[in-house]
Amino acid sequence: MDDITESAKRIAERESAALLDRTRASGRLFERAVASMPLGVASTFQSNDPYPIYLREGRGSHVWDVDGNEYVDFHGGFGTMAVGHAHPKVVEAIERAARTGTHFAVTTETTVALAEELCKRFELEQVRFVNSGTEATMEAIRLARAATGRDTILKIEGSYHGHHDAVMFSVVPNTDVMGGRDAPASTPLSRGIPADTARHTLVVPFNDAEALEKLLSDRGDEIACLIMEPVMMNIGIVLPQPGYLERARELCSRHGVVLIFDEVKSGATVAYGGATERFGVRPDLACFAKAVGGGAALGAFGGRADLMGEIARGVAAMGTFNGNPLSAAAGLAALTQVLTPDAYEGLGKMGTLLAEGCSRAIEENGIPAHVIDLGAKGCVSYRPQPLRNYRDFLECNVELFAASWPWMVNRGVFMTPGDEEQWTISVQHSEEDIARYTDAFAGFCSALAA
Ligand SMILES: Cc1ncc(COP(=O)(O)O)c(C=O)c1O
Repeated sequence: MDDITESAKRIAERESAALLDRTRASGRLFERAVASMPLGVASTFQSNDPYPIYLREGRGSHVWDVDGNEYVDFHGGFGTMAVGHAHPKVVEAIERAARTGTHFAVTTETTVALAEELCKRFELEQVRFVNSGTEATMEAIRLARAATGRDTILKIEGSYHGHHDAVMFSVVPNTDVMGGRDAPASTPLSRGIPADTARHTLVVPFNDAEALEKLLSDRGDEIACLIMEPVMMNIGIVLPQPGYLERARELCSRHGVVLIFDEVKSGATVAYGGATERFGVRPDLACFAKAVGGGAALGAFGGRADLMGEIARGVAAMGTFNGNPLSAAAGLAALTQVLTPDAYEGLGKMGTLLAEGCSRAIEENGIPAHVIDLGAKGCVSYRPQPLRNYRDFLECNVELFAASWPWMVNRGVFMTPGDEEQWTISVQHSEEDIARYTDAFAGFCSALAA
């Protein structure tokens, strides 16, 4: 083991003990919660060992846990809270909606206005609402299958598109089951998925147009869609290499494969018009959730009118809460009053300030890590060179991440406990908030190097 890894282990031990000491009320709430909820949480992604930190409140860029500890929030509800907490414009819209009826299961004018806003902003011809990213990718895939008459789908190794069976393959495959670099296996993330499902989900590496070209030449006429994040955001951040998205676009068109961009994380965070605007490649369908709802449960998918027209021709796309007026009001206020084009300039400046501060600390202390800066999103990954795909992610030094998390949390920086996540900055973050992060991180890097 090298010196830095040994130092990380010592830091992790000390900081984890200090964290447990500061979060005793979370420990007590966990004991209560675990009696009524598996793992003591509402979603498995919220769990942590030995218990998660339970939050009580969020305002602006800050959150407070049940022990009363205050943090600057860089977790952002897994990338949802680009508006920050309790933004007055979003609060006002939700209050108004709450006073005039929270649910009808009948489309309201607010929902129509939100559909128009999504279409304009993300260059979609039509859109259908759902309640989560999972539903968005599930419905988009069904549409692609219906439109092409093909059953098989293609996804990227190491990508997460929600928790429905078709996409629960090769999300974070272990090295012993992931197959060779040239032929990644379709490995289920969970038990309970019919074994047969694997036959219909094929996997290719990110940033490898040759592998995609080969697979589509061999089996293109079986494949309904390629679903991909245009920038991977569930293994830190992996940027598309120049020309890769253009090649993917061209290959899908050539083989009649529907190109679906999963913009659940990138939409409304990496640019006003999401990754489609930032990287300049347009998919056939795109999926949204998280930040587009301004903190309410909202998802959507949309794109080419001829494909969306399949819904009118009988392809199932429904849901009691689709277009719910409370969520629609929050989303409309978030997109039209808060996450305006100007807001992205501010988010970009804050993101760069944060990324530059982290890069400086990494360089000064010789830490084997790199930083990605992408508007409201960014991350430190503990590998010297940027990642190109999932297999590069497996080379990250997990001990360094394991030490960084409690170190940062103990210094008032709230982050997700998994190294697959990244930071999210909101429009309510200040330079002072950014300095809290960069100061804590600089301290971590010098402790590692000491
Ligand atoms: C890229 C991507 N797609 C889809 C999803 C699923 O979204 P949800 O958790 O809203 O179902 C996620 C969730 O993290 C995601 O990161």
